[in-house]
Amino acid sequence: LNRKLLGIAAELCRGAGADVNLVEFRELMMPLYDGDLEASAGIPDGARLLREHLLAADAFVFASPEYNSSIPGTVKNAIDWVSRYRPFPFKNKHGLLLSASPGLVGGNRGLWALRVPLELLGAHVYPDMFSLSRAAEAFEGELTLKDASLQARLDGLIRDFMAHVQRNVPADIAAAQNLP
Ligand SMILES: Cc1cc2nc3c(=O)[nH]c(=O)nc-3n(C[C@H](O)[C@H](O)[C@H](O)COP(=O)(O)O)c2cc1C
Repeated sequence: LNRKLLGIAAELCRGAGADVNLVEFRELMMPLYDGDLEASAGIPDGARLLREHLLAADAFVFASPEYNSSIPGTVKNAIDWVSRYRPFPFKNKHGLLLSASPGLVGGNRGLWALRVPLELLGAHVYPDMFSLSRAAEAFEGELTLKDASLQARLDGLIRDFMAHVQRNVPADIAAAQNLP
């Protein structure tokens, strides 16, 4: 469900001019954080890859379910591993948080938990978020939500977020990418 929601968001970001790199969480598989493992084997490939994706981007959009009203352990584990790098790879990255759930709250409580470590690590998490409730019945094909008002809200959120990122991309990055 979250993959489908992220797919819609990715298309909207592309439509607003973004160069989108869509990453499956499964591509970032990594062991549970263990300080002894880090000391003996270093930071695992999944976390290294996540750092590379973050460093290559001005902004990220996460779509995550909530588990037991909070952040899934797998997602927190990935954030914990990547937080071992200095400087923090999330630092000064703009982030937008989305969630989808078959339930009535749409995973929104999980997003409030997800926001906390991301902000601690220096990410600029966009104040507005989007949570899709009853997500199992919410999609019309691959790229549309059945509820036109919800689709309009998502369209507007992505448009606003993209404008916000473009206004706030550091000047040196903008110059390298020929942005105004
Ligand atoms: C361990 C676990 C805990 C869950 N806790 C919640 C929850 O607190 N709130 C909720 O809305 N859904 C909860 N769910 C249901 C998920 O929202 C549902 O599995 C959803 O489809 C996950 O998103 P996905 O389809 O993108 O994997 C939980 C699922 C699992 C496996």
